[in-house]
Amino acid sequence: MGEHLKRIGSYLEHLVKARTRHGVHSPFVYDLITHVLRHGVDVPQFEEIEALREDLLESDQTITVNDLGAGSRVSQRPIRVVSGIARTALKPAAQARLLYRTARYFQATRVLELGTSFGITTLYLATAAEDGTVHTIEGCPQTQRIAQHHFDHLGSENIHAVLGSFKSKLPEVLKHMGRVDLAFIDGHHAQEPTLAYFETILPFAHNGTVFVFDDIHWSRGMEQAWAAIKDHPLVTVTVDLYDLGLVFLRAEQAKEHFTLRY
Ligand SMILES: C[S@@+](CC[C@H](N)C(=O)[O-])C[C@H]1O[C@@H](n2cnc3c(N)ncnc32)[C@H](O)[C@@H]1O
Repeated sequence: MGEHLKRIGSYLEHLVKARTRHGVHSPFVYDLITHVLRHGVDVPQFEEIEALREDLLESDQTITVNDLGAGSRVSQRPIRVVSGIARTALKPAAQARLLYRTARYFQATRVLELGTSFGITTLYLATAAEDGTVHTIEGCPQTQRIAQHHFDHLGSENIHAVLGSFKSKLPEVLKHMGRVDLAFIDGHHAQEPTLAYFETILPFAHNGTVFVFDDIHWSRGMEQAWAAIKDHPLVTVTVDLYDLGLVFLRAEQAKEHFTLRY
C-alpha cells in the first residue's frame, strides 16, 4: 500500500477511535478538552507570526539544507526552496495555536523545542510563555538563520536559539534550563532518537510537565516510539490527537490513554 493510502487508513482508524468530551470521565482530560482543545483564542501576535509564514510561502529563495533528522518525504535534495519547506515542514496555524493554548493553560515558562525550522512554532510558544523562555534547537544553519531573522524582526527577547544537533546540544540546553515545563519534540521523526530524547529530558521534567510529540503516526518507527512512550512507567495520561501526541506524568492520575479529535 502506498504511504498516502496508509496515512488515510490510519487517520480513519483514529476518527473511529476518537472519543467525544462526554465519553471522557477524567476531570483533568475533560478540562483539557474544554480549555485547550476546543477553546479558540486569538491574540494580536498571531497575525504577526502568520504574516511571516505568508512571506515564507511566497519566497522563491533557495537554501542548502543540512538534514540531521529522518529527512523529508517530499524532497531529499539538499537545495530546497524556502516556500516548499514552509508548505510541508511547518505546523499549520491551527496546530501552532493549539501549542500556544497548551503552554498557556499549563503556565509553562520553561519551554523546550526540538526542531526550530523557520521559528514559526517557536514564536507561538514564546508568545504563550511571555514571562519565561523558549529554548529551541535546530541543526541546519541556513534554516536557523531565517528563524533568527524572524525572532529579531518581532523583537522576541525570550527565545534562546541554539544551532547544532539535538544529540550534541540537548544536554547543555537542559542544564541551562534546569527544569522543563513543556517539551515540543518536532524533528528527527524516528523511533530510537525520539525515545532517546524523551529519556534525556525526563530527569528535567516534573509532575506538571507536558510533552508534545509531533507526527506520532508518521511512520512505523514513530508508531513504535509512541507505543513505548505510552508504556513508559513514568507516563500516566496520553492524548493521541493524530498529528500530535500529548504526554503527562501526573502521578495522581491512573494510567489511561485517550484518542481525541480537536
Ligand atoms: C518539522 S521541522 C520543525 C518545524 C517547526 N517546529 C514549526 O512547525 O514551525 C524539523 C526541524 O528539525 C531539524 N532537525 C531534525 N533532526 C535534527 C537533529 N537531529 N538535530 C538538529 N536539528 C534537527 C530539521 O532541520 C528541521 O528544520
